[in-house]
Amino acid sequence: MFGHSPPAVARALATQAAAGLTTMLPGELLTDVGALLAGTFGLPRWQLALSASDANRFAIRWARAVTGRPRLLVFDGCYHGTVDDTLVDLRDGRTVTRVSLLGQVHDLALGTVVVPFNDLAAVERALASGDVAAVLTEPALTNCGLVPPLPGFIEGVQAACRRHGSLLLLDETHTVSTGHGGWARLHGVVPDLLVVGKAVAGGMPCAVYGFSDELADRMQAAKGAAPEGHSGIGTTLSANLLALAALKATLAEVNTPAAAQAMARGAERLQAGLQAAITGRRLPWTVTRLGARMELQFRPTAPRDAAEARGAMAGDVEAALHLWWLNRGVLVTPFHDMLLVPPMATDNDLAAVCAHFDAFLGALI
Ligand SMILES: Cc1ncc(COP(=O)(O)O)c(C=O)c1O
Repeated sequence: MFGHSPPAVARALATQAAAGLTTMLPGELLTDVGALLAGTFGLPRWQLALSASDANRFAIRWARAVTGRPRLLVFDGCYHGTVDDTLVDLRDGRTVTRVSLLGQVHDLALGTVVVPFNDLAAVERALASGDVAAVLTEPALTNCGLVPPLPGFIEGVQAACRRHGSLLLLDETHTVSTGHGGWARLHGVVPDLLVVGKAVAGGMPCAVYGFSDELADRMQAAKGAAPEGHSGIGTTLSANLLALAALKATLAEVNTPAAAQAMARGAERLQAGLQAAITGRRLPWTVTRLGARMELQFRPTAPRDAAEARGAMAGDVEAALHLWWLNRGVLVTPFHDMLLVPPMATDNDLAAVCAHFDAFLGALI
C-alpha cells in the first residue's frame, strides 16, 4: 500500500535490528505505538499479533470469552485469513464448510452462521437466536471482487448487534486504504473490536486489534474468571521489537493523512481513466472504488453481495488483461481485478495503466 520498502520503515528496522530483535518482554516502544494506534484508528486499547489471520483469531476468541456465546456471524464471500471459523460458504441458504479447505475435519457450520452481505433482515434473523458472540466483517467485501456496503448497512449491523448483545468486529486489513484511519474512522463508526494487518507495519509481519475501554474491562474479567493456564490467545513473537519498530515508523511517518490524500487523488484519476475507456468502448462494465482501492467488475453497477460479485467474474478476461499489462511493463498483482494506488504513483504511471487498458479493450472486442 505504501511501496515495497518505505524508507522510514527500512531505517527503523536497521536501527532496531542492531539493538535487539525480540525480548519476550514488553518493549519501550509500546507506549509510542499505543498512542499512534489510538490517534490513527480512534480506539483506546490495542493488542498485537503477527498476522491479520492471528489478530482475527484472537479477537474472535475474546468475543466468545466475554459474551459467553458460541457462534460467529460472517458474510458470504468473506475472507479474513486462515481463520477456520470464517472459512464457510452460503449454499442454498445453509452455512457449509468451504469445500476447498485442506485438512479440515470439523464441521465449521457448528460455530458460524453465514448470511448475504447488505441483507440487514438476514442479519437480524441470525442475531435473534441470541447465541452470536460477534459479527465479523470487512466494511466492504474486498475478497470476492469489491462489494461496497449500501448506505447505512454497517451502521444497521451495529445497531442490530447492540439490540441482540453481540459485538461488532470490523476487519479493516484491506479497507484501511479507504482513507487515513480506515473506513470506520471516516464514517464515524466505532466498532467493539477492530483488526488491521498487512500494511499496518509497512509490510513487516505484524497486525493489531483495538477495542474499547469497556471491552477491555470485560476481557480482564473473563481472564480473571478463567482457571490459570493457556488462553489460546497470543504467540511468542507477537509484538517483537522489529514489528514494533516497523509499526511505529509506518504510523508516524508513512501512513499519514498526506499519503492518504495522494492515494485518493491518484485513485480518482485511475478510476476515471479506466471508466472512460469502458464507456468509450460501450461495454457494460464498471470500476467500483473505495478510497485508494478499486475493482474492475464485468457488470454495469457495483454488486450488492458476493453472489452478484461472483456472477460478474470473468477469469479468462482477467488473466488476459494481466498478461497484456505485464507484457507492456505494468505488473498488476493478479488478484481478481483489484487495483490499489500507492502515494508515489505518478500521473504518468496511471496514464500508462489506462492507455494499455484501452488498447486491451480494442483488441478484445
Ligand atoms: C480482509 C482480510 N483480513 C485478514 C486477512 C489475513 O491476512 P494475513 O494473510 O496477512 O494473515 C486477509 C488476507 O488476505 C484479508 O483480506
